[in-house]
Amino acid sequence: MTTAAMDRISYEAGGVLLPDKGLVANEIARLAPRLEAARHEVLADLELFRSRSPIPREKEPLDAAFIDLPERLLGDYRQRRQESELNRILATARRLAETIDRVVLLGIGGSYMGARALFEACCHPYHNELSRADRGARPRVYFEGNNVDNDAIAGLHDLLGCGEITRDGREPFAIVVVSKSGGTLETAAALRIFLTALRQACGADGNRLAQLVVPVTGASGRLRELAAALGCTDIFTIPEGVGGRFSIFTAVGLLPAAILGLDIVRLLEGAADMNARFRQAAPGDSPVLDYVAVCHLMERTRGATIRVMSTWGKGLEAAAWWYDQLLSESLGKEGHGATPLSVVNTRDLHSRGQQHQEGRRDKLITNVSVASPRRGLLRIGRSPHDQDGLNQLVDKTIADIMEAAREGTNRAYRGDERPTAELRLPRIDESSLGQFFQMLMLATVVEGRLVGLNPYGQPGVEAYKRHMNAILRSE
Ligand code: PA5
Repeated sequence: MTTAAMDRISYEAGGVLLPDKGLVANEIARLAPRLEAARHEVLADLELFRSRSPIPREKEPLDAAFIDLPERLLGDYRQRRQESELNRILATARRLAETIDRVVLLGIGGSYMGARALFEACCHPYHNELSRADRGARPRVYFEGNNVDNDAIAGLHDLLGCGEITRDGREPFAIVVVSKSGGTLETAAALRIFLTALRQACGADGNRLAQLVVPVTGASGRLRELAAALGCTDIFTIPEGVGGRFSIFTAVGLLPAAILGLDIVRLLEGAADMNARFRQAAPGDSPVLDYVAVCHLMERTRGATIRVMSTWGKGLEAAAWWYDQLLSESLGKEGHGATPLSVVNTRDLHSRGQQHQEGRRDKLITNVSVASPRRGLLRIGRSPHDQDGLNQLVDKTIADIMEAAREGTNRAYRGDERPTAELRLPRIDESSLGQFFQMLMLATVVEGRLVGLNPYGQPGVEAYKRHMNAILRSE
């Protein structure tokens, strides 16, 4: 379901086709029938979920509902406009943007990383420091509840003050609290603290408080009960069958994005376009299946157990963190699973670069690059002081230097038979990011089915929670 024409992201596996240590094209081609079978299983999982038939034990948990969520939300928006979920998200975002100057987003893991990735990729790099006008009349956004770090929470508490009305008459801050289970301790503890500050500001005015807390949660649980007790005016439900790390295209990611003024329809259209490619394109022509083929073969046949997501630009760092979680929690099971590693270049060429060039041969480097920057191009320019020797590069732009660094690094890796692959975004915008996030979520579940691991659920995360709670509650 795409409307306006869309520039598509691309995936090229050329840099892994190396004479001695890389893959050969035949290997990728030979994997095609298994990839097709894994794709079929992923789509059959979705059908099974939608059919509401009992889920066979070996398939549980089955959080396949993320797959067609973009099309569903867009369809609902077009048919029922006023009553649609997207319209509710947009209305709440508008209300908060008009009345609030600071929004505190509480959440952890899948209830945090997608919003953070969208914020860092799409907003001005100094968003929170800009004037309200330069922020497009959008609130400042702060992330908390993603740790239990006393000093970090206290620092934000200081910054927010004791919750006085701002000089232009706006509310001091609002809380968007995201937790699917509603019982995650990190998020709940932070909510207590910021809610107390907000309560002090609102005094006896419970209605005012109820408008300043927006919960995004599952159909039941402690957070929903708390929201009901507070009388929150806007509550968003994370749909059944969508796991935390697959929830970026629910209110979990869409509400923060809309508060920041991002075009969430375009974001979903990008994701829906990736779904169409996933359903139709054959291996060799499918970003999802080709990405899986290369990662899987490099890991299982060449020992590339470390997957480096090498981003070329600071704005994509949090997107790489988002992928860290997606890969780790989905495929790090039963003694298997590649290790993700996020890199931002050229910054990390001066730290990890040495090891990636000459260290252990256990890495596949996927470059994530952007064809054109969002902002006007900065040139080196001529200087009367040429001690730095840069007058030779007078017409080069900062983007030219980045491109030269990327090509130069790839050449150096190729010279030593270090495998690379290229994930290219036309630009950083909602449409490209919609494609990017959906591509990686689909690739992760396809890879799980390919290797016989259930990509959904994260049983291992429960272990630390059990111990932490036992320690806290026994003292
Ligand atoms: O991917 C997941 O499911 C997890 O990372 C969760 O998002 C994370 O543990 C937070 O859980 P909750 O949203 O229930 O607070």
